[in-house]
Order: sequence, then structure tokens, then C-alpha cells
Amino acid sequence: MIAWLSGLWSGGAAVIEPASLRDAPKLAQLHGASFHRGWGEGEFETMLSERNTLVHRLRMGRKTIGFAVSRIAADEAEILSIAVAASHRGSGLSRNLLLTHLGHLAGRGVRTVFLEVEENNQPARRLYHRAGFTVAGRRERYYQQSGAEQLNALLMRRDLS
Ligand SMILES: CC(C)(COP(=O)(O)OP(=O)(O)OC[C@H]1O[C@@H](n2cnc3c(N)ncnc32)[C@H](O)[C@@H]1OP(=O)(O)O)[C@@H](O)C(=O)NCCC(=O)NCCS
Repeated sequence: MIAWLSGLWSGGAAVIEPASLRDAPKLAQLHGASFHRGWGEGEFETMLSERNTLVHRLRMGRKTIGFAVSRIAADEAEILSIAVAASHRGSGLSRNLLLTHLGHLAGRGVRTVFLEVEENNQPARRLYHRAGFTVAGRRERYYQQSGAEQLNALLMRRDLS
């Protein structure tokens, strides 16, 4: 199923659709540009081949500008990663990406969704809060930065039913 987002962004409306193996290079590039430890093409290929992993891409015109990845185990899922290209952030695109992704998880029988977010990641925290996630726990000094700094993680959850 394809979700069309109304909007007048340059390049046309944004579309959220299932990703395929052919998207692996672009998704790896987007991931590498968004996170400290980027996932390689091979990691995306593996995830895109697994039945329990759900991957959506966010496309504008012919360009893929974001993605969401989660892993399903019985009636629970964990959002492993979500990102929007830096050039397209701040326009609310991630919300529709996340909500569409959650809708597909619900369609797969998922009732509870978990995720981890770095405590200082305000855009991500606002995104998750607005999408109905609540803080379920906190892990001190969970993320190791390249420098000495260690950052805390919040565990968030949302029930889908
Ligand atoms: C998190 C991310 C997906 C959000 O995508 P986006 O399309 O830019 O999201 P939005 O435009 O909907 O903005 C999300 C919220 O953050 C707010 N925000 C944006 N930049 C901000 C900043 N620098 N400081 C604080 N809040 C900020 C927005 O105002 C919005 O909140 P609101 O809905 O209450 O107004 C995107 O920033 C990203 O890809 N980050 C890098 C990867 C990442 O950290 N992913 C999450 C891992 S847990």
C-alpha cells in the first residue's frame, strides 16, 4: 500500500512505500549521514530480506529522502531506525513516515511498539511524543560518543491497540 502525503514540497508530494532490495545502497547512504555508526549496504540487504523486518522508504519525486525500519517479534515490534535526509528535515515529514509505518505494524498484528532514543535528541523525542509514545525507562550512559561523552537513552513505548 502506498500513502500519499498532501503537501507542496519541492519535488512533488512525499510518498511512503515499502522498500525493496534495490533501495539498500541509498538507505545505507542516508543512514550513514544520519547516525554515528552507519549501517552498510549489506546490513540493509539482510534486513530487507527478512520477513520479520519492516522497512519503509520516504520518497519525493524520484529521490528517496528517508526511511523507517522495525523488527517484529510476535505481537511486539522495535523501531530500529528512522531518519529523514538533513536537507528535508523540519517539515514534518517524519511524522507521516512514522504513523504510516506504525499502521503497517498494526496490520501485521503488532500490539506494542518499543524504541530507544538518545535523551538529548529533541527532534526525535518530539516526533515520538507527538506520535503517542511515552517514556518507559531510562538507561544511563548508554550511548558512547566518539569523544569521552556518554549519553543517556530513553526507552519509549506505544500500544497500537
Ligand atoms: C528525527 C528526525 C527523523 C525528525 O525528522 P523531521 O522530518 O525533521 O521531523 P519534524 O520536521 O516533524 O520535526 C520533529 C519535531 O522536532 C522539532 N525540532 C526540529 N528540529 C529541532 C531542534 N533542532 N531542536 C528541537 N526541536 C526540533 C520540530 O519542531 C518537531 O516538533 P513539533 O512537531 O512539536 O513542532 C530527523 O531529525 C532525523 O532524521 N534525525 C537524524 C536521525 C535520528 O536522530 N533519528 C531518530 C533516532 S531515535
